[in-house]
Amino acid sequence: MTVQQWDVIVIGAGAAGLFCGIESARRGRRTLLLDHANKPGKKILMSGGGRCNFTNFDITPEHYLSANPHFVRSALSRYTQWDFIALVDRYAIPYHEKTLGQLFCDNSAKDIVTMLLAELDDAGGQLQMQTDILSVGDDGEQFVLSTTEGDLSCASLVVATGGLSIPTMGASDFGYRLARQYGHEVRDLRASLVPFTWNTQDKTSWSALSGISAPVTVSAENGQAFTLDCLITHRGLSGPAMLQISNYWQPGQSLMIDWLPGVDISAQLAADRHQQGRKTVKGWLTQWLPQRLAEHFVEQSQVQGALADLTREQSLRLSSMINHWPFRPGGTEGYRTAEVTLAGVDTQAISSKTMMSSKRQGLYFVGEVLDVTGWLGGYNFQWAWSSGWAAGQVC
Ligand code: FDA
Repeated sequence: MTVQQWDVIVIGAGAAGLFCGIESARRGRRTLLLDHANKPGKKILMSGGGRCNFTNFDITPEHYLSANPHFVRSALSRYTQWDFIALVDRYAIPYHEKTLGQLFCDNSAKDIVTMLLAELDDAGGQLQMQTDILSVGDDGEQFVLSTTEGDLSCASLVVATGGLSIPTMGASDFGYRLARQYGHEVRDLRASLVPFTWNTQDKTSWSALSGISAPVTVSAENGQAFTLDCLITHRGLSGPAMLQISNYWQPGQSLMIDWLPGVDISAQLAADRHQQGRKTVKGWLTQWLPQRLAEHFVEQSQVQGALADLTREQSLRLSSMINHWPFRPGGTEGYRTAEVTLAGVDTQAISSKTMMSSKRQGLYFVGEVLDVTGWLGGYNFQWAWSSGWAAGQVC
């Protein structure tokens, strides 16, 4: 059987793979992107509620988690958010800043995928979907891929297979297995940017409040904190505050939630009990909190009646329930709904400049498959663009 020869094969036609393929094809490298899914960029299409939060005005290494926090510096500084925004502008794709520097398409995430495919086509890169890779062999010079569509060989192999989240969208552990095949460490994987589930005890008292959203400050045991919206659901706690903190949470740990950031309940009670002493505690709390949530705190901390009648002990109970509520999640919703996989291929044996493996010349890892995880807010796509670009300059 004949073996089709390529200079570069990129496995995975998602955000990072497409970007890498565009760049390598532009350099005149005969480039093939392989993917087992039926269409490219599926996660781009479903991202940002269908509008793709494609980058952020404020990209810095501090927005990323990795065992080596410096790893992202080079790629992020050589292909920046401004470079990607310039590309989006060149295609006249309308976009807007939603909040906190997060840039979303005005119309549809399809605009981004269409742009990337046009770039790939213009550069002369080839795309082959619905192809399963059965094995990756290696004769020391060339990689030899056995696929359901025939055998292929290449001098440079780029692994852009992403993480494990949303298995129904084509996620697989292929990249991690290939990394191990070449002696790379894969750091412990975990679903992240993901909602939390209730423990059995909290479920009983909290799930009736589902649908309520409120700004909170949530802190992890390592001190990382976010002040953002939290959404109470039947299953647990969700919303941007919870997704962000999930990057910093380990199973078995607790989170601390302040349901009224900026209002110190103890101090406020002391100040208001004289002038507003006849108000019920519930009525008083509804100046800041949704009524059902205020009722919940009153019931749970067993403080009935008027402000003036509260004992010191009751005031403390109420304030700790509202300002310092320890939440011990039962777990998370897992890869079914997670936006990313935390950790991945250890960056210690990867060049931060080129994304090339130090174990095998010509082998590259880009995007989410690496041990690089961004915050919610366009950071993960920027990593995909920047790391894909970096490998695309040399592969
Ligand atoms: P990506 O997952 O995009 O691509 C991997 C590709 O490899 C896929 O096409 C897959 O089919 C293919 N593949 C996997 N295994 C294979 C195999 N064995 N053989 C062949 N092909 C294989 N980020 C952000 O910055 N802003 C946002 O708005 C969002 N929103 C968002 C919403 C949802 C619901 C999710 C799940 C995720 C996000 N993200 C996000 C995260 C973002 O989508 C993610 O970090 C990037 O898509 C990662 O890009 P990659 O190219 O590394 O992987």
